[in-house]
Amino acid sequence: MDNYKTWQIGFPICINVIMSIGAYILTTRLIPSLNNMFIKASLYGNDMNKRSTKKVPEALGVVSGCVFLITMFMFIPIPFSDYIFKNTDFPHNEFVDLLAALLSICCMVLLGFADDVLDLRWRHKLLLPTVATLPLLMVYYVNFNSTLIIIPKPLRLWLGFSKDLGIFYYLYMGMLAVFCTNAINILAGINGLEVGQSLIISISILIFNGIELTGDLWKAHKFSMYFLIPYTSTSMALLKYNWYPSQVFVGDTFCYLSGMTFAVVGIIGHFSKTTLLFFIPQILNFVYSVPQLFHLIPCPRHRLPKYNKEHDHLSPSVIIFNKSDISVLDIFVLARFIMQLLRFFCLVNWKEDNNNLITCNNLTLINFVLIMFGPMKECNLTKILMLFQIMWSVIAFVIRYPLASLFYDV
Ligand code: UD1
Ligand code: MG
Repeated sequence: MDNYKTWQIGFPICINVIMSIGAYILTTRLIPSLNNMFIKASLYGNDMNKRSTKKVPEALGVVSGCVFLITMFMFIPIPFSDYIFKNTDFPHNEFVDLLAALLSICCMVLLGFADDVLDLRWRHKLLLPTVATLPLLMVYYVNFNSTLIIIPKPLRLWLGFSKDLGIFYYLYMGMLAVFCTNAINILAGINGLEVGQSLIISISILIFNGIELTGDLWKAHKFSMYFLIPYTSTSMALLKYNWYPSQVFVGDTFCYLSGMTFAVVGIIGHFSKTTLLFFIPQILNFVYSVPQLFHLIPCPRHRLPKYNKEHDHLSPSVIIFNKSDISVLDIFVLARFIMQLLRFFCLVNWKEDNNNLITCNNLTLINFVLIMFGPMKECNLTKILMLFQIMWSVIAFVIRYPLASLFYDV
């Protein structure tokens, strides 16, 4: 790496790290001092997996999110300082990328907070991230408009070397944002899980960016690091208070903010497929949840594990319904197929009694772990799920590096 490139990477990243340390300290101080304000504003919930019924302030993700955004706003001039001082050609494209990415994340924090305050319906939860990605997609259109994908080697005989997906590529990017935001939100409900999984994803992407800094696309990876370093530091501060036993809940604000940040860096940095590789546990949880999300079988408001007060441990929660409640509509064919597969491979606890009453566990990865390993304490459950996330990150790196050469010319 030549000296100028080292300087172009090293200088903004060093400033970014210093600012992120400041952001961490600020967030750790702000959260406890704002707790009461949230409770007064009726923004609180009950920890359903505890004996006490103490009010726990909700949506504190808005604090870490705002500190993250303020840090990013103050950071805006840093990557461009060379051009400002030397009066050379200003890279307008890079500047617009940065602003659009911030605008999308900012929108998502606002919409996430609205969701926490107003408790929106599921159809809105799908609509909000779509709206928030529009500025980003517009900038993508103006700056890159590259909708070409390289076909994996084994399929090239039939599909050729590359394919232009056109509008479908934009649809894919919009759906990526919807998926990332909601996938984190539905793998939730035990202390520390929302932030824990998001931190593992962000650190994994940061490692990936660090490796790729030596490659040709170093600018895109440097751009991603600008966002992920302060995101990681502010989320670490939040985890300090959200870890078992939680003093605060992070709310949908945090889930949306996280999902959008990952989608934004993946889209602008052109590594959305790799981003998805770090989401494998969330994809598994989503696929497992499909029969409930598509209402083939009933989906209660909360699918948290069942809390046993006496032993202070969690066991799988169940839903009980009548056989006639199973939806018969054909649009649920995918959900039905997944449900049959799950039952065939004994991945659900499904019991039918003589009165046609069916008992089935709530279809979440959290409950699945409890079925596999038996009842356990909440903090152990979070740790197992985080280990699972780390394990998949390691597998993602294996897929991305050694295995990718089987499919692409890397
Ligand atoms: C999603 C899940 C829901 C799960 C909920 C938990 C789906 C379709 N939705 O709904 O099943 O129950 O997240 O966040 O899968 N809570 C705890 N302990 C925690 C975290 C949350 O008890 O560690 C409870 C608190 O009462 C808190 C509430 O969950 O107030 C927050 O739920 P919310 O984020 O509003 O639920 P959804 O995101 O709609
Ligand atoms: Mg939620």
